[in-house]
Amino acid sequence: MSEVKAVILVGGEGTRLRPLTSSVPKPMVPVLNKPFLQHVFKHLSNHGIRDIILALCYLPDNIQSYFGDGSDFGINLTYVVEDFPLGTAGAVKNVSQYIDSTFLVLNGDVYTDLDLTSMVAFHKEKGAKATIALTPVEDPSAYGVVDADADGRVKRFIEKPKREEAPSNMINAGTYVLEPDVLAHVEPQKFCMFERFLFPLLLETGQAVYAYPSDAYWIDIGTPDNYAKINLDLLSGETQADDSVDVHSSAKITGPVLFGSNCVVEADVVIEGPVVIGSGCIIKSGSFVRRAIIWPDTHLDSWTTIKDCVVGMGCRIEANACVVDGTVLGSDVVIGDSCHLSGGVRIDCGKSIDPDTTLKR
Ligand code: GDD
Ligand code: MG
Repeated sequence: MSEVKAVILVGGEGTRLRPLTSSVPKPMVPVLNKPFLQHVFKHLSNHGIRDIILALCYLPDNIQSYFGDGSDFGINLTYVVEDFPLGTAGAVKNVSQYIDSTFLVLNGDVYTDLDLTSMVAFHKEKGAKATIALTPVEDPSAYGVVDADADGRVKRFIEKPKREEAPSNMINAGTYVLEPDVLAHVEPQKFCMFERFLFPLLLETGQAVYAYPSDAYWIDIGTPDNYAKINLDLLSGETQADDSVDVHSSAKITGPVLFGSNCVVEADVVIEGPVVIGSGCIIKSGSFVRRAIIWPDTHLDSWTTIKDCVVGMGCRIEANACVVDGTVLGSDVVIGDSCHLSGGVRIDCGKSIDPDTTLKR
């Protein structure tokens, strides 16, 4: 199905992922030490989809300069930058000059191993105007909830209902197969959302909208908990480190741990996976790291404890400090010696915390 193009929506601000997204747009946050979008590209390529259009708005330069025309990644990328946020459907309307046949739309913050080839085949077999991938979740209230009949025909689409008003726990998984003519209902250069306008309109006017449920792996990386989860879920097997990583013989590493290049691990350090450590990190003697994601160029001084947390780029954690239990540090943060941070505290980029401070959310 090489003729199917994909539009990826990557214009959101990623507010719920702050402070991680204060300096890096959500699609570029590192997952297993690679920008998140690179994992999405891989999934599309695996299904023969190489013509990819990125609908951008927030921090677009960062994405464009990294991926270029896509050729280094085996894909062909087109970028369209909005002057102001056009919403999910407005953003797709804004790239419609590149679309002339059945196409895919992906929310740019979702990772899934959904079978796209089968989904497109299902869409065509049903003669649908729109097909929405569904996934089950425990609490549907943070998502678009879809009510479909036994044949898969969608009856209702309700964005972010109250939990008790959700007609099912099957939610919009953020992957759509669409026919280009559905975009005729969207005005150019006007804010418009699939979820609150276009899908309800297609349903009201009796168009063929189908649901494609699956139990494929699925996660929206838009919150720190989910961002940590995808890293830990995708990390598997053995510890991985290239020759540039210098690990002292007395350090104890239990996998899976993924090291970027040029990391240093000093004497008596204990690292218990799953842990992802970005390139250029230094972990000084006696420190303990468990279930953590550490971005590049961060230094942990001696006898620090880093557990169940995300640490941004270029941070410095001074001796004996303890950063645990859902803490999220933005980039370039300094945590003074003997501090204790826990309970999901978030520290903004560039902040310094005085020694001996205890912070709990
Ligand atoms: N280009 C562009 N312009 N992209 C946008 C804009 C915009 O104005 N607004 C949002 N996006 C992108 C975001 O970057 C993200 O990749 C995607 O559209 C979805 O936006 P989110 O802000 O992450 O929405 P959500 O997670 O609350 O809800 C959406 O995703 C759920 C699944 O994760 C909805 O589609 C729900 O119905 C769905 O269940
Ligand atoms: Mg989202």
